[in-house]
Amino acid sequence: MQTYPPEPFRIKMTEPIRLISPKEREAALKGAGYNLFAVKAEDIFIDLLTDSGTGAMSQDQWAAVMRGDESYAGARSFHRLKAAVEDIFGFKYFVPAHQGRAAENILSACLVKPGNYVPSNMHFDTTDANIRARGGRPTNLVIDEAFDPANPHPFKGNMDIAKLEAFIEKTGADKIPFGMVTVTNNAGGGQPVSMENIKAIADVYHSYKIPFFIDAARYAENCFFIKERESGYESKSVKEIAHEMFSLADGMTMSAKKDAIVNIGGLLCMNDESLFQNVKNELILREGFPTYGGLAGRDLDAMAVGLYEGLDEAYLSYRLAQTAYLASRLNDAGIPTIQPAGGHAVYLDAHAVLPHIPQSEFPGQALAVELYREGAIRGVEIGSVMFAYPDPDSGKMIYPKLELLRLAIPRRTYTQTHMDYVADTLAKIKSRASSIRGFKFTYAPELLRHFTARFEPL
Ligand code: F0G
Repeated sequence: MQTYPPEPFRIKMTEPIRLISPKEREAALKGAGYNLFAVKAEDIFIDLLTDSGTGAMSQDQWAAVMRGDESYAGARSFHRLKAAVEDIFGFKYFVPAHQGRAAENILSACLVKPGNYVPSNMHFDTTDANIRARGGRPTNLVIDEAFDPANPHPFKGNMDIAKLEAFIEKTGADKIPFGMVTVTNNAGGGQPVSMENIKAIADVYHSYKIPFFIDAARYAENCFFIKERESGYESKSVKEIAHEMFSLADGMTMSAKKDAIVNIGGLLCMNDESLFQNVKNELILREGFPTYGGLAGRDLDAMAVGLYEGLDEAYLSYRLAQTAYLASRLNDAGIPTIQPAGGHAVYLDAHAVLPHIPQSEFPGQALAVELYREGAIRGVEIGSVMFAYPDPDSGKMIYPKLELLRLAIPRRTYTQTHMDYVADTLAKIKSRASSIRGFKFTYAPELLRHFTARFEPL
C-alpha cells in the first residue's frame, strides 16, 4: 500500500465546498442531460474533472500577479516569462497563448494541409481535433502495452518506433508536416515516455526531415518519472532532464494549466525562424499581440513563477505519490486502474468494473454518472464518448481500445481525506456494479462531442 506523503505546503486560504443531498444530485444529473460537464460546480463536492487550471497557486504566484504589467506590447511580464521559458525549455522562439489548444490551433493552422498526417504516441482530444479541423489525420502509435491496463510497463507512454517508421514509409514523409509525442500520455493513462524513447522518436523524425514537436503539458511529471524509473537519470535534476528532453525537439506546445500550475495560459515554442514569423501572424489574428498572446500581463507573471514551482522536486515527489495513493486504495477495493498509476490522474478501467455494458452504451460515462450520484464526485469519461468516430473512408464507427474513467487530481488542492472519500465512494459503487446501466446520446456534435453531448439512461 502506497503511503500518503505529507503535503510540502500548508493552507492559508480556503475555498468552501458542500455536499448536496442525493435527491438534489439526481435532479442535477437530469438537468445536465447526464453530462457532468453541464453540472454546476457548486453542486460538486470533489471535482476531479480535470487537473487543468484547477490547481492552487502559491503565495509567490499571487504576489507575481500583483506585479503584472498590462502594457499592450513588450510588457515586463512578457520578458519575465521569456526568461523562464528560455531557461527551462531552451527553444529559440516562443509565443504565449491563452491555453494549450490555442497553441495547437496556431501550429496546425501554420503547418497542417488537408490530407496530411500527424503521428504521436497518443494525441489529446484538442490536439486531435485541431489537426482534423485543418483536414489532417492525427495518428496514434503508442506501444501495445499501453492498451493492457494491467501491464506495469514503467514507460507505457512510449511510442512504438517500428510502427512509426513503417507509418512514415507508408504515408510518405512529405505528407507529415510535423510529428509529435505527448508527455505524459494523458489519453493513455498519464503514462510517461522514457528519454530513450524520446531520443529514438527524434532520430526517426529527423532522419525523414520531419520537425518534432513535444506536447509538453505535463513534462515536469514526465521528467520526474524518468528520474525515478530510467537508469542513468537518478542523480540528475528534473530541470536537467527537461533540458535534455527539449534539446531533442524542434518545438513544443504546452498547456501551462497543468505543470506550470496556473489557472490559464499556454506556450508555443519553436526553433524555426520562418515558422515563428507565420506563428506570430496567426497569433495576432486569433490570440493577440505576440508579447501577450491572449493573456493578461498578470497571467504571464503567474506562469513565469509557476513554471519553476512545477519543477520543484519535493512538490513532484508529493504529487506523484498522492496519485499513486488514490490508485492503490482503489486497487485494494478491487477496482482495477491503469497500472502503474499515472502522474496527474487515476484511470479506472470502466470496462472491467462494468463488463456488462458494451462500448456502444458508454461504460465510462455510466461509471462517471454513478460516481456523481453516489458521492457528488466528478470525473471524466475517456472512452467512446470522447474518442469513437466514424472512419472517414468507410463511415463505420471506430471504438477506442480502452474505456476509462479518469479522476484527475488538481495540483496542491485536495488532501488525504478527500482521496479517502473518493476511494470509499467507489468501493460502494463496485458492490452494486451489476445493476448499473449504459447510456445513449440524445444530442452529439461532430467534434469534441463529450463537452456538450446529452444522454438518456438505457
Ligand atoms: N495536451 C494535453 C496532453 C492535454 O492534456 C491538454 C488538456 C491539452 C493539450 C490542451 O490544453 O486545455 O490548455 O487547451 N487537457 C485537459 C485535461 C483539458 O483535462 O486533460 P488546454
